[in-house]
Amino acid sequence: MLRKTSLITGLILFVYVTTHLLNHALGLISLGAMEAGRHIFLRLWRNPLGTLILYGALLIHFALAVWAVFRRRSLVMTFSEAAQLIFGISIPLLLAIHVIGTRMAHEIAGTTDNYAYVLLIHWKFSNKYIAYQTAGLLAAWIHGCIGIHHWLRLKPMYVWAKNFLFAAALLIPTLSLLGYTQGGRSVLALSRDPEWMKQASAIIRWPDKDALGKILFWVDSVWVVLISGFVLALVARGIRSYAEKSRGSFRITYDDGRAVSATTGTTILDISRIFRIPHAAVCGGRGRCSTCRVRILEGFDSLPPASEEELHVLERIGSLANVRLACQTKPTEDISIARLLSPQVSVRDIHTRAGRHSGEEMEIAVLFSDIRSFTKYSEKKLPYDVVFVLNRYFSEMGEAIESAGGRLDKFIGDGVMALFGIDGNIEQACRQSLIAARAMTRNLEKLNQSLASEIGEPLRLGIGIHAGPVIVGEMGYGNATHLTAIGDTVNTASRLESMNKEFSSQLVVSGDVGIHAGVNLSTFPGNEIDVRGRADSIHVYIISNLEDLPLESS
Ligand code: FES
Repeated sequence: MLRKTSLITGLILFVYVTTHLLNHALGLISLGAMEAGRHIFLRLWRNPLGTLILYGALLIHFALAVWAVFRRRSLVMTFSEAAQLIFGISIPLLLAIHVIGTRMAHEIAGTTDNYAYVLLIHWKFSNKYIAYQTAGLLAAWIHGCIGIHHWLRLKPMYVWAKNFLFAAALLIPTLSLLGYTQGGRSVLALSRDPEWMKQASAIIRWPDKDALGKILFWVDSVWVVLISGFVLALVARGIRSYAEKSRGSFRITYDDGRAVSATTGTTILDISRIFRIPHAAVCGGRGRCSTCRVRILEGFDSLPPASEEELHVLERIGSLANVRLACQTKPTEDISIARLLSPQVSVRDIHTRAGRHSGEEMEIAVLFSDIRSFTKYSEKKLPYDVVFVLNRYFSEMGEAIESAGGRLDKFIGDGVMALFGIDGNIEQACRQSLIAARAMTRNLEKLNQSLASEIGEPLRLGIGIHAGPVIVGEMGYGNATHLTAIGDTVNTASRLESMNKEFSSQLVVSGDVGIHAGVNLSTFPGNEIDVRGRADSIHVYIISNLEDLPLESS
């Protein structure tokens, strides 16, 4: 609720700042254009409803920022979080004089706070306000952009939208500052004409000494309130942490053996931050990304129950019962935990891994293939030729697998491993694997023809396919992490592929694949084989020519 309110009020303020910056940008056209834009701007924001929305959003956003500072258990934060906080605090301090000096002057002294009024003060009478204005607007813009980035970055559409948004984030303040500078220069030039100054002053109606005194008093008051608000939040944090210490502490043991003590009321993520223990937290602890999740190895029952929002996030990723979000869980007794994601996990990983990173058992078809006698061929060729031929071969095999609906898992030397059914059912998976096997031999045939002069003897494939339960998940380390499958089914498919040598066949396929695919393989020679590590033998079919497979032609 608080986060949503902060987001909505932040968005209102961001729209206000954007319209203000765009208005400044009109200075690149002329002072008249700036003024015309200002009339629209005022119609939007200076009517009773616009005023209520704007100043209401300002007050609530500020109050929530103070509350957020109080609520934080740790002031250790990422660079962008720190930047957002510092810019957020500096905005009202920098812009108070501008906001009060225009709106209040208008209200109490009947001043026309048009562009001539503001630009004359900034560029002719007191240049320090150029720095205030520029720093304030940039702080507001950067603060808003970071907030929007944090809000949108977990949304899939942000992957393609972010480049456009980044361009806009650079373009709008740049045009605005150029317009502001151009407007200032125009006013400076015009002000050298006493007649223009006389007319401009008549329209402006400068605030008198009394009004100026009130304006400065209110600016000082705003500064006092703002600074007091944040100081109070920091003092309240100190009092709270003292009170919590007297209420007791608990111990967390991490998966790497580290053990730390913390006071009650602190989340697991904050504890990791306080003790500088690397811990993934892509959304910055807002309970949205799930990357901070931990498996509770001991003490699960002592934890306070998960909130509805936390349960919703955990359900979305299909987490196991003893998994909790570190940023939402406040232990009260000793626990031991295992962090489930690498601290280096990124937003991109969240989009691409789609919830399978922690492992999922499923039934799929696994295909292995290998080029017969490729080692002998490569020994006689130059490295350049080998790489060239292999890359052509990989692209033909990849195309055959993907167009059949499979997922290319990896290339192992001249071998290929592919998975079918990760996003479908086992029947479809088995059909797709057979179609892919046939397409692979057809593509290889085409490749043999086009490379006949380079390779001499045509390349031949041996393929093995088996279907059954596997564990699918993100595995690997660093950049070498990807979605793959492990299990007996994978080992068996690999073993079937190697049997092609024995039978001089193109495909050795388990009977299970034929049954699931609804393809009658009984016309092909069959065999019972033992696979190392399996208690039972499995029935396989040996297919010498994949063109004989009874599949609809494709
Ligand atoms: S850090 Fe994102 S959910 Fe905890």
